[in-house]
Formats: sequence, structure tokens, C-alpha cells
Amino acid sequence: MTTGRSKIFYIHTFGCQMNLADSAIITALLQQAGYTPAESEESAGIILLNTCAVRENAVDRIEHYLQRLQGMKKRDKGLIIGLAGCIPQYQREETLTLSPAIDFLAGPDSYRTLPALIEQARGGAKPTSLEFNTAETYEGIDPVRQGVISAIVPVMRGCNNRCAYCVVPFTRGRERSHPFRSVISEVQKLVTAGYSEMTLIGQNVNSYHDPEKGMNFAALLDAVSREAPRARVRFTTSHPKDISEELVRTIADRPNICNHIHLPVQSGSTAVLRRMNRGHTIQEYREKIALIRSIIPDIALSTDIIAGFCGERDEDHQASLELLSCVRFDSAYMFFYSTRPGTLAARTLVDDVAEEAKKRRLQEIIDLQNSISAELFQQSIGSVVEVLAESESKRSAEQLMGRTAGNRAVVFDRERYQPGDLVQVLITSATSATLTGRPEHC
Ligand code: 5AD
Ligand code: SF4
Repeated sequence: MTTGRSKIFYIHTFGCQMNLADSAIITALLQQAGYTPAESEESAGIILLNTCAVRENAVDRIEHYLQRLQGMKKRDKGLIIGLAGCIPQYQREETLTLSPAIDFLAGPDSYRTLPALIEQARGGAKPTSLEFNTAETYEGIDPVRQGVISAIVPVMRGCNNRCAYCVVPFTRGRERSHPFRSVISEVQKLVTAGYSEMTLIGQNVNSYHDPEKGMNFAALLDAVSREAPRARVRFTTSHPKDISEELVRTIADRPNICNHIHLPVQSGSTAVLRRMNRGHTIQEYREKIALIRSIIPDIALSTDIIAGFCGERDEDHQASLELLSCVRFDSAYMFFYSTRPGTLAARTLVDDVAEEAKKRRLQEIIDLQNSISAELFQQSIGSVVEVLAESESKRSAEQLMGRTAGNRAVVFDRERYQPGDLVQVLITSATSATLTGRPEHC
């Protein structure tokens, strides 16, 4: 490798928005240490994979990637490859056995050590930095974000719940909230930089608790929306147990907080929810939905759902379908269950739903949800919606792609508009995933 490339890095980000936010922190930390981000993977001397361990197929994807990187490394002996994020934190030192191409491992709480890890790796060691640090919120680091329209703002890290299927408590550690004042000062910077949308994120965002003065998530959301009155404010992911009337009223009262709640349910059956250790029954979940809709009737709701969890009987699966039909979510992330070693489910329950049944149930869930989304989207044909334009559409520079406050994707004729503009769009057609339209002029 030419010495010029040894200080140039490229990050591949897998998984959730938390990993995207972490990649922005990693970029800032490496830049502070004199490294430069690469335009493309080929021009980099250091390649980092910021990984996700939440489902088995996420790990399979990384293994495929590593095979390709191993080929690159054979041709370019000086190339340094690091694995960061949830996989190394979860599989610990054993992660090194995934591929001889891996030079170092860095868990989510140890990104400040990245410059040292890179140097040690260059010296031939295979260093690992996998300590949990419950004090680490990366306060004081200014994330280097991609794009200038929409910003992800982490407000808490980790999770104190123990959902039986989930690796997050093992990969991200105990919950810790960022100080209220540091979130607000970050929002002020984003306002000055001209961002049009801010998404507050946390694994369990609505259990936010200011470590200094004890403010809750409703107070934080309210303050952020006032600090950035011209930006759209979103948040994700919420846990049903932490949806309070105060929070719903805050969303209703503040015009720039988007009327959208992502509220994972995971199963429509109380028996399954109990085995999942979710901490609520389906009745309680429905009561939260009723509360939300009584205050904000037109709110957009989305969810996560798992098919084929341990001990799921056909009647439990029918209960999940029934819940989808009844609530009519705008959209859903739908998965079949995969065992994650070390979790409560892996240790105490039997993964007894046959693979074929899991996949069949998942397909039924997907088919039903797609038909519901399609119906809901069809109903919006003829209406005018406010869209924040995010980018050119994939198909044509003559069209822009953006989102409604309810997070529906909209493709519309570009006319004179640019990404970043708020546009009133008349919806003319719809599929189960996208609305199409043209700007409405008054
Ligand atoms: N198997 C399948 N889906 C899972 N999820 C988390 N862990 C698993 C697992 N072991 C899903 C949940 C969660 C989303 C991020 O991923 O629905 O809300
Ligand atoms: Fe995982 Fe449950 Fe925490 Fe979500 S709330 S991150 S599913 S343990």
C-alpha cells in the first residue's frame, strides 16, 4: 500500500440507526486523530465494518463481506480491517475466528481507543477493546454526519430490559441517557447548520431520564421541538411500557413533532409476550394504542413483529394476524425468530417452531401487512400531504423522494424543488410502500 492511504479510512455501516449514529462518532474521533475519510472503499487503507448482531442473518452478511475483504487483503497486505459494533461485543475475542482478515475488534463503548487499536494492528498485533463503559455517551464529540437535511441525534445508549430473544443488552450494555443540556446544545448546532429534520434515537428512547436533573423523555422532546421550531422532530424506538399520556400530549401539542410512533409489539399473543419477557400484555398494548389514538386520531403507527418465537402455537400466530388487522399499522418490520446464543430464550426456552413453519407464518404476516399498508396508502390518493424532500428519486433526476410527517415515502415531480424543501404534494397513486404525486400549487 502507498503510505498515503495508511491514514485514510472507510466505514461500512450495518444495522440500525444507532450504528449509523456511531459511525458518525467514529468518523469524528478518527478525524481528530489525523485520519481522513475515504471517498470509496478502494481508496482506503483502513476498512471498518460497524456491525449488527441482532438477528442471525445479520452475522451471515458480515461473514460474506469478510470473505471479499480477505481477497482484497491478499492483494494489498498493508490494508487494515477492523470489526466494530455489536458483533465483536457479543462474540468477544471469538470474533477473530470469523476471518483471518480481521486485524482488530472494537465494541460500542470503546471507540475512543480506535486510533490506538489501528496503530497496534499495524504493528502486527490483533488488539481487542471490548470493555463496557456505562459512563460513555461520547459527550463532547461532534458527530460527522452524512448529508445536511436529516440528522440522527442519540439521546441514550443501551437497554435495561431483558427481552428474551434480544442481544442488545449484551452488545450495548446498561441504559445511560445523555445529559439534557448536551442534547439541547447539539440541537442548537444542528439548527445553526440548517438541518430540516432531527430524529432522537435510543434503543428505548422513551425511557430517557436526564442524569443531572431527572427530566423525562416528554420534557426532552418538548424542549427539542421548541429549540428547533422550523425542523421536523422524530424519535425512535419506543417501548410500550414507557408510553405515557404526557408524552402523547406533547406530540399532539407541538406542531413540529411528527405524528408518528414506532411501537414494536413483537407478538399478538400475551402468552408469547410473557415468554418474550416483554413486560406487557396484548391488552395493555392495545390500551396504549387506544390512548394514543384518543389524543391524536390521525397518528401513523408502525411496529416490529417476530414470527415463530419459542413455543408459538398456531393460535398465537393467529393472534398476531388479528392484532395487525385490528390496529392497521402503517408499516411493520417483520422477522422470523432466530436464536441468539446467551440470551434468556437461548438459555431457558426451546426453539421448537420448525423453520418451515416460521417462514410460512412470517410470509402470512408480510402478506397481510402489505395489503393493509396498500389499503391505507390507497386511501391517501387525492389528498395533499406535506413532504420533506430528501434526495433525488432512484429512478430519475426529474423526481424527488421524501417523507410525510407519518414517515410515508413519497416520490413526486421535481419541478423547481430541491432536497431539503418542504413541499405540498398531491398524491396521485400508491403501492404498499410508496406514494406518488406532484406538487400542489395554491
Ligand atoms: N430474532 C428475530 N428478530 C429479532 N429482533 C430482535 N432479536 C431478534 C431475534 N433473535 C427484532 C425485534 C426487534 C428488532 C430490532 O429486531 O423485532 O424489535
Ligand atoms: Fe432488545 Fe427489548 Fe431492549 Fe428492544 S427493549 S433493545 S427488544 S431488550
